[in-house]
Amino acid sequence: MKTFVIGISGVTNGGKTTLAKNLQKHLPNCTVISQDDFFKPASEIEKDENGFLQYDVLEALNMETMMADISCWMGNPGSSLGPTAGCRTEEIPILIIEGFLLFNYKPLDTVWNKSYFLTIPYEECKRRRSKRVYEPPDPPGYFDGHVWPMYLKHRQEMDSMTWEIVYLDGTRSEEDLFSQVYEELTQELAKQSASTVLANGVVKSGAPGK
Ligand SMILES: Nc1ncnc2c1ncn2[C@@H]1O[C@H](COP(=O)(O)OP(=O)(O)OP(=O)(O)O)[C@@H](O)[C@H]1O
Ligand SMILES: [Mg+2]
Repeated sequence: MKTFVIGISGVTNGGKTTLAKNLQKHLPNCTVISQDDFFKPASEIEKDENGFLQYDVLEALNMETMMADISCWMGNPGSSLGPTAGCRTEEIPILIIEGFLLFNYKPLDTVWNKSYFLTIPYEECKRRRSKRVYEPPDPPGYFDGHVWPMYLKHRQEMDSMTWEIVYLDGTRSEEDLFSQVYEELTQELAKQSASTVLANGVVKSGAPGK
């Protein structure tokens, strides 16, 4: 069965979760997997020489568990939908994976049908982050001592990536970002649906009793 997998990555507080949720509301047969749900417990997170917990690295995440969930969805796409979704089964199942460290994780490289990366400038990022309360809460100096330097490191690694990543300016309004991405995705999904119809043959799809 055809599937369509969208990656929404970007800087912390860039608006990844907000965009993913807005898209899920409007895209049929769409499941979201959030990387934030796969952090290891604090007791398993390394500390650096300043005592900062090293959360913004791949080692802080149970990526194998996240991959298992993705494989599970691939094996039975759309399975997380409730019974009322039955009327939409003709739609290509869509999976949105959203998180801050997606494109740096090699096993996911071949999964993406479309990749987005949200950016916001340092000051705006620091401002948005200071208004959030994480668990555990950011200690003083954490943003400059860990979060932002790790972001810059991961961002640099992305320079060597070979597939197309669409960069989005996360300072644009929520609605504006949603509209752009929704329009692009519906166009690509329409292309996929058209090629599925061609591959199946018009006669076959119109045959009675099949
Ligand atoms: N386009 C936007 N313009 C202004 N503020 C936004 C926008 N999108 C999200 N926000 C706000 O920024 C904050 C972070 O949003 P969100 O949780 O979606 O980001 P995130 O990238 O998922 O963050 P995290 O790194 O915690 O996973 C929230 O307070 C949200 O309301
Ligand atoms: Mg988030």
